[in-house]
Amino acid sequence: MTSPTVRTPQPLTERVLERLVYRSDAVGAADGPMDLSEIVATSVRNNGRRRITGALAYQSGTFVQVLEGDPEALTALMADIEADARHRNVRVLARWPVQAQLFLGWAMVLVDTRKLSPHLSKLLSQTGSGAQVTTVIAELANARLGSMV
Ligand SMILES: Cc1cc2nc3c(=O)[nH]c(=O)nc-3n(C[C@H](O)[C@H](O)[C@H](O)COP(=O)(O)O)c2cc1C
Repeated sequence: MTSPTVRTPQPLTERVLERLVYRSDAVGAADGPMDLSEIVATSVRNNGRRRITGALAYQSGTFVQVLEGDPEALTALMADIEADARHRNVRVLARWPVQAQLFLGWAMVLVDTRKLSPHLSKLLSQTGSGAQVTTVIAELANARLGSMV
């Protein structure tokens, strides 16, 4: 018999959540300020509706994005994103189940990568694993180095 004093740990959320991280190569002038703000504006609108949260980083021709939410919603969104002509060569670094959203409150936040050290820049845009990239982006978002959109 279970002792009444032993409490079952409660999950932080009843929702099934996954986090996904990918890199892609920007096409043409997709790195212009207008294009980035357009992508973020669309993302905020759509992700809010789909209860997806996340962050986007852009660094010398490379997009890095973290997305979190319901697995089916993530899969549907990734199909749209992969078909977007503003970038190509979308490679998913990692996708894993999580207990809570790191970017809670941000349907999409654009982080500012300009103050990153060369070592962290390389980790973000080239060498880092999905988990490492997530940490760098979360630190940028939390430090408010990024602009909240
Ligand atoms: C790097 C990159 C990241 C994007 N991220 C998102 C996103 O998080 N959410 C979203 O809805 N669209 C995102 N988009 C845009 C989608 O590819 C697509 O244009 C959009 O979902 C279409 O929405 P609409 O039919 O409302 O115009 C992204 C595009 C790029 C190039």
